[in-house]
Amino acid sequence: MTAGRLAPGRRPPQILSVIGARPEIIQAAPLSVALAPLADEVLVHTGQHYDAAMSENQILAIRLPSPRHNLEVGSRPDLEQLAVGTERLLRIIALERPDAVLVRGDTNGTLSGARAAAAAGLPLLHVEAGLRSYRVDMPEERNRVETDRLADVLFAPTEHAARTLRAEGARGAVHVTGDPLCDILESLRDRIRPAAGDYVLATVHRDYNTNDPARLASVLGCLARAPWPVIFPVHPRTRTSIAAWDLAVPANVTLVEPVTYPRMLELERGARAVATDSGGVQREAYLWGVPCLTLREETEWIETVETGWNALVGVDADAFAEALARPLPAERPRLFGDGAAAPRIARLTVKFLREKLEEAA
Ligand code: UD1
Ligand code: UDP
Repeated sequence: MTAGRLAPGRRPPQILSVIGARPEIIQAAPLSVALAPLADEVLVHTGQHYDAAMSENQILAIRLPSPRHNLEVGSRPDLEQLAVGTERLLRIIALERPDAVLVRGDTNGTLSGARAAAAAGLPLLHVEAGLRSYRVDMPEERNRVETDRLADVLFAPTEHAARTLRAEGARGAVHVTGDPLCDILESLRDRIRPAAGDYVLATVHRDYNTNDPARLASVLGCLARAPWPVIFPVHPRTRTSIAAWDLAVPANVTLVEPVTYPRMLELERGARAVATDSGGVQREAYLWGVPCLTLREETEWIETVETGWNALVGVDADAFAEALARPLPAERPRLFGDGAAAPRIARLTVKFLREKLEEAA
């Protein structure tokens, strides 16, 4: 396969932009807006998430343009999802002949896009590069490490992520851009009205929290210790696990369907605290100034812990209750940029492609 059509006179550059799971869909929105005047973005949905509540309703709620292709990869074991995603993306590359592939985050769609770009000889751009949990039993860790190795341009959301990439000797160019999630929250800060009442907002979907009945029961045991009602929009994999093992849902916990992003932001902003194992929700809690209890032993977003706004409580109910009672820190420094990450990423992307074009001419 050839390396796409990076030839003089073929303006604007065409970028194959891969989405597949909920966080990629949400975070694609600001970059899509920023790329629109500069490049031809071909949005490709791998179809990893397909329930309306996880995908279509989110696309509509955030006004992301409809993806041009949906590869309908669906739910499969990780290795199969990666192989099928890569193979189907290669077919789209052959059809669209883009100049580059852009991926974000750490899902199986991310690594499928990275592998497809490498196989096709196309430049790879990675948004949200340089995050690490240092847990190789997490599929996301394996996905992000390999994607970062393959990437030509690495957009690090924070200085910490950039330092990680440099220390690892990343092959590609590293830029600190800020986090597109921060762009979204800053742009909506005046419009999002906090939901009313005293409650804790919970989300849980990490595979190691949902694949083991004892561990998931401990997660629910933590939520039982909240002195307020807990609103818990349940990821489909978590709902399936709770039902399969017939786990008791504590009386103070209400399971609801996944909510649209604008509603999620209202719920986060109004919460007394957020309990989560989600990467996105940890950052959003910080950005709203809501304390976060992370139901994990480690986090990729270590700055939120260092500043005192996030506590790694694992699934220890006593640690959960203790962290919930802690006073809030006085300071909340800007960790995730100035709200202009997406335009910065768009400009750097186009500059990189122009330079490639000049080299090739
Ligand atoms: C994936 C990502 C994870 C990300 C999360 C966002 C990988 C390895 N994991 O995890 O990094 O944080 O998305 O939410 O890529 N299911 C449905 N309907 C759907 C989607 C999933 O019922 O629309 C169920 C299926 O039973 C499926 C399970 O959820 O087997 C897990 O889905 P999958 O996409 O494999 O992983 P996530 O846990 O969603
Ligand atoms: N989210 C949402 N509705 C929900 C739960 C989460 O809109 O019911 C949003 C959340 O605000 C965040 C993103 O989904 O922006 C995070 O996705 P998820 O937790 O699925 O994945 P992760 O960030 O852990 O990769």
